[in-house]
Amino acid sequence: MSLYPDSIARLAFAPRFAGPIEDANAVGTDASFACGAFVRFELAIDPDSKKISAIGFRSNGCGYMIAAAETCAAAVANAKLTELHECNFSGFEELAADRMRCAEVARHALKEAFARFRQTQLEEFPGEKALICTCFGISEELIERCGAQSVEEVGERTNAGTGCGSCRMLIAEIIDSAMSEL
Ligand code: FES
Repeated sequence: MSLYPDSIARLAFAPRFAGPIEDANAVGTDASFACGAFVRFELAIDPDSKKISAIGFRSNGCGYMIAAAETCAAAVANAKLTELHECNFSGFEELAADRMRCAEVARHALKEAFARFRQTQLEEFPGEKALICTCFGISEELIERCGAQSVEEVGERTNAGTGCGSCRMLIAEIIDSAMSEL
């Protein structure tokens, strides 16, 4: 008999996304200070379609951690960056309600992968003004010019901020600064 509830055992003992992938261009790792276990995600993100074409993970964690990593991977596999909703996956809390610290390691590792993807895009951006949203290649200049007055409006007009969400604070600052100059 399994130590884990059925819903966890089902995911932990037959994970579809376990293992490395080829051509990964976004990699993120996080570990638990409590037990030392880690989760590492590898993603291949198509630079043109902005679609996550492949995802895999590795972990030396318990069944809860593996189930959480599997849930995160399933939530973003084949998704476009516009569909990430800041990695706020529905059903995630319910799955690991009694082991949230294991689940958080998986979620942080995935966010780290997107943050690293963002960093690479920033380093390769050839424009003169700052690149703000790396998920969609939206520059500071474009955000200023789109005439939006809220982060949501910027998202509707340019897609910026609607992917991993890590640029939303920067977008808010640009809008605040543009409004204060009016
Ligand atoms: S950098 Fe990911 S949504 Fe903007």
